[in-house]
Amino acid sequence: MTYRESGTYRESGTYRESGSNRESSKGAPAGASTVGVIGAGYVGLPTAATLSHFGHRVILAESDPGRFNTLLRGEIPIVERGLLEMVRDGVDRGTLRFVSDATEAARGSDFVFFCVPTPQGVDGSADLSYVEAVAKEVGPVLRSGAIVVNKSTVPVGSASFVERIIGRDDIHVVSNPEFLREGSAVHDSLNPDRIVVGADDQGAAARVGQLFAGTGSPLIVTDTTTSETIKYASNAFLATKVSFINAVAGLCEAVGADVRDVVLGMGYDKRIGFEFLRPGPGWGGSCLPKDTQALVHMAESAGYDFSLLKGAIAGNEEQLDLVVKKAVSSLDDKIEGTTVGVLGLTFKAGTDDRRSSPAVDIARRLVGLGARVQAYDPTVPAFEEADDLAGVRCCADVYEAVAGARVAVVLTEWDEFRWVDFEKVKSAMDRPVVIDARNILDPGAMKRMGFTYVGMGRG
Ligand code: NAD
Ligand code: UGA
Repeated sequence: MTYRESGTYRESGTYRESGSNRESSKGAPAGASTVGVIGAGYVGLPTAATLSHFGHRVILAESDPGRFNTLLRGEIPIVERGLLEMVRDGVDRGTLRFVSDATEAARGSDFVFFCVPTPQGVDGSADLSYVEAVAKEVGPVLRSGAIVVNKSTVPVGSASFVERIIGRDDIHVVSNPEFLREGSAVHDSLNPDRIVVGADDQGAAARVGQLFAGTGSPLIVTDTTTSETIKYASNAFLATKVSFINAVAGLCEAVGADVRDVVLGMGYDKRIGFEFLRPGPGWGGSCLPKDTQALVHMAESAGYDFSLLKGAIAGNEEQLDLVVKKAVSSLDDKIEGTTVGVLGLTFKAGTDDRRSSPAVDIARRLVGLGARVQAYDPTVPAFEEADDLAGVRCCADVYEAVAGARVAVVLTEWDEFRWVDFEKVKSAMDRPVVIDARNILDPGAMKRMGFTYVGMGRG
């Protein structure tokens, strides 16, 4: 897998993992629908590629010139395993094409998917300005009977909100939340655990469900309010689960237990399971942080105090502090002017996404405390000078990042960090101290090599 090729991120690999080895043939089969997808980001691109893979005629609109031109060049603007091949396959078969104008994708389409951002607003609520703008843009050109699908994560009442903006009684607005994870978006899109469709009109719901029939996944049809709630409740549950295990890791440190064995012992209970119980530097990314805040806000607006979720959010803030404290105390509180090596900047492995990344947040806190931070991430070029990385020196590899460092902090669980030459790391460092905020290294092996090893919840 290579992440850097001629200045853009690309991937090799295959997406043919779910019965998708059908013969390539030009054009869409009879009965195929025409689908407009608005927004070619982490959700819109996999959605467009999946629908095109299932034989529908997909027109993907992207207004950002950088992203649009990348697509026109036959590349993709994000790091996502297997997605490039799937996109190229759609283009080659003639079922996927790109436009820069949302109206061009919407006009004449049977379905129009909104996959635009819903960032956090100043008061914590979801900012619907992109959704509103697209609804205003495409509303007048929609063909009669078209179905608008809110795939963006939107709060309760958003289907009605979009309906009001479009202001036409010959159009249906349906909620179809997306549950894919970055890093496994292709797999998740082809094999979703479930398809949720919320609609007031059962016929419209059935038609949207039918688009994804090729996945063979369970279909849950409900009203729009319930569908919108399902999305936020799912992300809030996942965030709470990670906050819970991070708290258990803290408990393990206090009592001298090993969290990995605690998870093993808990996870065999099928009601608990093993998923989402990896302690780390706190949950981040473009969705869990903003969606949990939005749900707290949504609940408050409806007169409900979601104190459990507020606790999970507060616990997550403490987790970020905890990793910084571990780094500072490993330096006997002398961090000013000290070199710290940071391994990983993305919010998780398998993506180039650094939005609300705990790794970036922690690196910047270390910079704020006066440390000289040298970082390496496989998706970040050396000498990168992005705004979110102000004060962080981006390096070409792990060895450069740890050169002269008095502590190295592993913040993203990139597989390659498990396989570095730790003897080389040791000799490059000023002092062999590693804080493994992802618990990806073997403490015994690290100690035998002469490292001071600090993990998360490992006694
Ligand atoms: P993103 O920022 O990666 O992509 C959104 C794209 O929409 C951008 O490329 C932007 O330029 C484009 N866009 C905005 N307005 C447009 C317009 N008028 N016409 C054409 N293009 C336009 O965002 P994302 O991560 O794909 O998230 C989109 C939505 O999906 C959000 O609501 C998010 O919460 C939700 N979601 C995201 C994920 C994820 O893993 N990232 C998973 C599930 C749900
Ligand atoms: C998450 C959800 O998992 C998706 O179902 C959802 O569609 C998506 O948000 C969304 O709405 O955008 P994603 O943001 O890609 O997907 O990332 P996750 O795999 O959920 O991880 C979120 C954060 O939790 C990351 O920072 C990750 O490192 C952390 N995490 C996750 C842990 O620290 N421990 C775990 O065991 C799992």
